[in-house]
Amino acid sequence: KSLKHYNTFGIDCTARYFVSVETVKELKEVLSQKISDEIFILGGGSNMLLPAKLNSFVIHLNLKGIEVLDQTQSEVRIKVMAGENWHEFVQYCIANDFGGLENLSLIPGNVGTAPIQNIGAYGVELKDTFESCTVLDIENLNEKEFSNEECKFGYRNSIFKNEVKGKYIITSVTFKLTKKDHKLSISYGDIQKVLAEKNILNPSIKDVSDAVIAIRQSKLPDPKVLGNSGSFFKNPIVDKDTFEEFRKKYPEAPFYEISPKEYKIPAGWLIEKSGFKGKRFGDAGVHKKQALVLVNYGEATGKEIWQLAMDIQKKVKDLSGITIEPEVNIF
Ligand code: EPU
Repeated sequence: KSLKHYNTFGIDCTARYFVSVETVKELKEVLSQKISDEIFILGGGSNMLLPAKLNSFVIHLNLKGIEVLDQTQSEVRIKVMAGENWHEFVQYCIANDFGGLENLSLIPGNVGTAPIQNIGAYGVELKDTFESCTVLDIENLNEKEFSNEECKFGYRNSIFKNEVKGKYIITSVTFKLTKKDHKLSISYGDIQKVLAEKNILNPSIKDVSDAVIAIRQSKLPDPKVLGNSGSFFKNPIVDKDTFEEFRKKYPEAPFYEISPKEYKIPAGWLIEKSGFKGKRFGDAGVHKKQALVLVNYGEATGKEIWQLAMDIQKKVKDLSGITIEPEVNIF
């Protein structure tokens, strides 16, 4: 089966075995049959670079459902199945005036994959409202729960990318959201700008969501129109010595001080400085408006995108002394 329409990069990857499951029971049945040793769990396909062929057993997680577990006057706990589309879930929250996820509007992918890389945008991360998730152990088919703390969330990181990588399938996520007295995060410059342009003084969560949507649409390509996986690289975090060295060479570079010892530098800036912004090599390219996003103009293969990524990584390293690492999962 071709996975071209199952990954936002639009890579034409042929899967040897493919099955779509709608319930946890079906998922357990499929896993107990052990058709292949290697299992590949496919959610929204938004954070992966696929090869031309996959010999593994692809399980498309199509688990659906949103359930309000309980609520008080000020808070609500919602359990969402892994196969729900992330942005549609965020819009459901906005429509019900449940606050906390508005800054994460329009992020591609599904709910179940969001915790793996602790998705984040405009000053908010998934971990800020994440309460717990249920997982299925691929080996023994036992179900288990991971609390926020147990997930060990970090910048684009969690336990699911490290210690327990490939061991569990996330089947649902529970969030704790606000029902009133929403705590808005609107300090991000671009959000301030949009709200000011519209003369909005007391924004609602809908106003914030709309602002985020407008910002994303203005610089990030729509995967339905132009294949991509969002930011291809992570923003590098460097130590003070590396940073000082870098600053001497590029005093004009933007940066963000995480602590007196750690500095984050926008990878988009480094890539633009390296001359790659807007460049196209065959059907693989660097987005015109956001250099951190690699795009597939149509028929690019995973290999071609990867080659471009490696060329960028090398040039950035040569110029700045800084190594940028992919954010996207590479197969
Ligand atoms: N910049 C450039 N040239 C570019 C792009 C960026 O010079 O082509 C510089 C500018 O100085 C700009 C700064 O980089 O002010 C930051 O750019 P932007 O606000 O677009 O954010 P980012 O750091 O490039 C991160 C996330 C995005 C998220 C935005 C907004 C990562 C890897 N990416 O991008 O997440 O939407 O912040 O919060 O942390 C994603 O993960 O897929 C993603 C899109």
